[in-house]
Parts: sequence; structure tokens; C-alpha cells
Amino acid sequence: MDDYEPILSFGEAAAETYDTVSRRGDEESAVRFLADLTNGGRALELAIGTGRIALPLTERGVAVDGIDISPAMVARLRAKPGGEHIPVTIGDFADVPVDGTYSLVFVVFNTFFNLLTQDDQVRCFENVAAHLDADGAFVVEAFVPTFLHRLRDDQYVDAESVGIDEVRLDVARHDPVAQQLDETHVSLTADGVRLFPVVCRYAWPSELDLMARLGGLELKERWSDWDRTPFGAASKMHVSVYGR
Ligand SMILES: C[S@@+](CC[C@H](N)C(=O)[O-])C[C@H]1O[C@@H](n2cnc3c(N)ncnc32)[C@H](O)[C@@H]1O
Repeated sequence: MDDYEPILSFGEAAAETYDTVSRRGDEESAVRFLADLTNGGRALELAIGTGRIALPLTERGVAVDGIDISPAMVARLRAKPGGEHIPVTIGDFADVPVDGTYSLVFVVFNTFFNLLTQDDQVRCFENVAAHLDADGAFVVEAFVPTFLHRLRDDQYVDAESVGIDEVRLDVARHDPVAQQLDETHVSLTADGVRLFPVVCRYAWPSELDLMARLGGLELKERWSDWDRTPFGAASKMHVSVYGR
């Protein structure tokens, strides 16, 4: 997608609808899984967004810091009860622009793939490693990209939702060499058409494991979901835990 910048996906319009269209129902199990890994220490969420995970994690007594590139998304977090107390750095999470170390660093909801080059993704692993306690954990939750290779002509149009007042389409093209998916969510209403573009550079779990090794980390655990369902050939998602 020409002239795409990640901030285009998370401006005011996306932030306004994010909490209604992006709740996944996995929040409780994700928070339980993540809280277990903190061992009483501090946590850092890369791409904290509107606090879908960070807020309930703080409610369990975990001290959470965040990084996000979008002031609009963070303003939504700030407007929620407890959101005003979470320290958030506005910046690129590939840089991990914070001080100190954490017992847990995590990035969920495929957001690691919002880093659009392999270099940025490797840099992220290296910077996370520099901000982990000696026995700290880095958790990545992301999709396994098998479905992209079954697409006809490397493109698709999905009817995401069909309502009386709104139809939402998901329109995408896939580049298997760049490992890139150019996707736009299209909202059709009586008021007109709204476009929500998002581009991702996906990676297979095995490539993530190599990136971790370049950063001095190794895979400790991999599950199919937050409830620790065993990971295997049919898994569509993975929750991967890296450490030294
Ligand atoms: C799909 S939302 C996920 C938000 C939250 N983690 C959640 O699970 O609901 C993706 C978030 O990543 C942020 N983001 C995307 N690329 C980023 C980058 N390079 N650095 C920092 N934040 C980024 C966006 O602003 C947005 O808030």
C-alpha cells in the first residue's frame, strides 16, 4: 500500500470505534496468563492501545507501563477509570523507548506484525532483551500465517458484518515474498464509506524464534491460546514465551 504509515491505522477515527469492534473475548484468559508470568514484578505492554489488556492487568495488582505510537488510542485509555495512572511513552515500540527492566514484556493481538520490516522486528527483540529482568519473559501473541497461502490470487474480500445500518468488508491483498498483507476494513453506511487501512509484515513462528536468538533470547513455551492448549500443526494462533 503506497504511502502507508502505521499511524494511519490508529488515528482518531480508528480509536473512536476500536473498543466496540476489537474486543476479542480473550481478555480474561490473557490477563490470567500474563499475570502468572510477572512474579510480582513490573510489566511493559508494547502497543498498549486503549488498554484492553493493560487495564484489567493493573486491576489484578500488576504495575503496567505502556508504549504506543498513537496519541488518539492513548487518549481513550486515559479516559477510562484507572487509565490516567498508567505510564505511557509515545513512540515506536521497536525502539522500546523506556528506562529500566521488567519481569514481563508483552505484545498481543498480532501487533508485533505492525513492524513492517524484518530489521524492525529483529531490532524489537534486541531492545526487549535489553529491558528484561534476568529471569524475565517476553510474550508474543500472533496468528500463524497458514491461511494466507490458501488465498486465490493472493487476495480476498470478506463480509465482516452485515447489519441494517452498516456493512463492514475486509479487503486485502497478499505479497508472499515480502510477507506482507495490505488490508483495508471498509465501513459502508448511509453517511458514506469509511476506510480503515492496516498493513502487516507477518512472520512464521520459526522466524520469530530466530529473531529471538539474534536478540539473545530463546523460546521457553508455545501454546495455541491463552488457556495453554498445546500448539501443533492445526494451530491458527500462538502465544510464545521467550526468555534468556
Ligand atoms: C490492534 S491495536 C492493539 C492494542 C492493544 N494492545 C490491544 O490488545 O487491544 C495496535 C496498537 O499498536 C499501536 N502501534 C502500531 N504500530 C506501532 C509502533 N510501531 N509503535 C508503537 N505502537 C504501535 C497502535 O497505535 C495501536 O494502538
